[in-house]
Amino acid sequence: MSDKRVAKLSFDGKELELPIYSPSAGPDVLDITKLYAEGDVFTYDPGFTSTASCESTITFIAGGKGELLYRGYPIDQLANESHYLEVCYLLLYGELPSEDELVEFESRVTNHTMLHDQMNHLFRGFRRDAHPMAIMCGVVGALSAFYHDSTDVADPQQREIASIRMIAKIPTIAAYAFKYSAGQAFVYPDNNLDYASNFLRMCFAVPTEEYVVNPILAKAMDRIFTLHADHEQNASTSTVRLAGSSGANPFACIAAGIACLWGPAHGGANEACLNMLREIGTVDRIPEFVARAKDKSDPFRLMGFGHRVYKNFDPRATVMKESADEVLELLGIEDNEILKIAKELERIALEDPYFVEKKLYPNVDFYSGIILDAMGFPTSMFTPIFAMSRTVGWIAQWKEMIGDPKLKIGRPRQLYTGATHRDYVDVKDR
Ligand code: CMC
Repeated sequence: MSDKRVAKLSFDGKELELPIYSPSAGPDVLDITKLYAEGDVFTYDPGFTSTASCESTITFIAGGKGELLYRGYPIDQLANESHYLEVCYLLLYGELPSEDELVEFESRVTNHTMLHDQMNHLFRGFRRDAHPMAIMCGVVGALSAFYHDSTDVADPQQREIASIRMIAKIPTIAAYAFKYSAGQAFVYPDNNLDYASNFLRMCFAVPTEEYVVNPILAKAMDRIFTLHADHEQNASTSTVRLAGSSGANPFACIAAGIACLWGPAHGGANEACLNMLREIGTVDRIPEFVARAKDKSDPFRLMGFGHRVYKNFDPRATVMKESADEVLELLGIEDNEILKIAKELERIALEDPYFVEKKLYPNVDFYSGIILDAMGFPTSMFTPIFAMSRTVGWIAQWKEMIGDPKLKIGRPRQLYTGATHRDYVDVKDR
């Protein structure tokens, strides 16, 4: 990694040499770990816009080219030719599985889809109108109270079992959160079905009727899982790593990731995007919202547009758009008002100089919300579906971190601008 090149930094009469690392892709990285010890200075980088927080071999984004690679494989190839569980294997173990390895992996995941029966009671403690993300944060965190035999992070075997359990159980948890809010009976997993079909069935089947999974919808669902499976060191992944760096158990770390993902600037954007389309309401109101998005004095942003890393296009959005067309055609809803608004908004944003100059393209959440809405999911389920898809990425990154001999507890520094030492004054003297 290190190629003996160094960057020289001079300030206040000091001269420091910072080793330069050459990654296999992406910009060179300056090693500043000795900066404080040798230079008595910190670096300042709010939002980590220029800071590599770890070494990783899992996912790479070439934002300028609009490229996303999982272990080197382009996302569009994986979304079109592979399927989610194979992608999970790839992310977790680094290589595509052989046929036997895939069968064995799928069977291991499938055998863990059930929740401990006592967990079913846990759901009932929530209000019926609780947001499914709130339920997921709580229930995923609670896994650590049920599976004590997979919380010792120092034991690779336990880490492995925890990973499989999480991938297997997260669709069951998300579907139960949905069923609970709908006031319907939980539908137990069906281990004869593939991952996506099983999830659809757990969400949409009712005990009184037979439910037949539509293969086109299952394919679209599987693609949504694949497209969201991992995304480098984004906010929720960094949260999982930071939580895990203290040695916290994996279930607690994933619960932390879910909490972070919930925000509207991250995984909550798909829900916020559809709510925005509904608020716009009719095509003739689009200019008003576009004007608000451009107005510096208005905090409003067009949800589903822009990305911190993609400054060309979001390759996930390209695949998701194709899927959206297929699903809407299948369901015969190519002509509804929300879709018309979405298409017009997309057209305007791709032509308007404000969006073009700032490179604000529709991102994956713009299209995923449209598909999930067409499939019959309420907007509140959009982010839980993102969370379940991303669980494998969080786990792969967490495992990579725990296995890294250079692991240190994450402990950022600060640029302190508060009061310096002052003495306490008694309340009656203030
Ligand atoms: N609508 C209007 N203006 C925008 C938008 C938007 N959606 N996004 C960025 N801008 C403007 C922003 O006002 C700023 O303008 P200026 O340079 O004049 O101050 C400029 O573009 C750069 O914005 P930024 O906030 O510095 O960019 P960022 O890299 O920090 O933010 C983002 C990236 C995704 C948080 C932001 O684009 C955003 O809030 N988008 C809407 C929410 C969204 O769709 N999020 C989902 C991201 S994809 C899913 C995921 O990976 O989590």
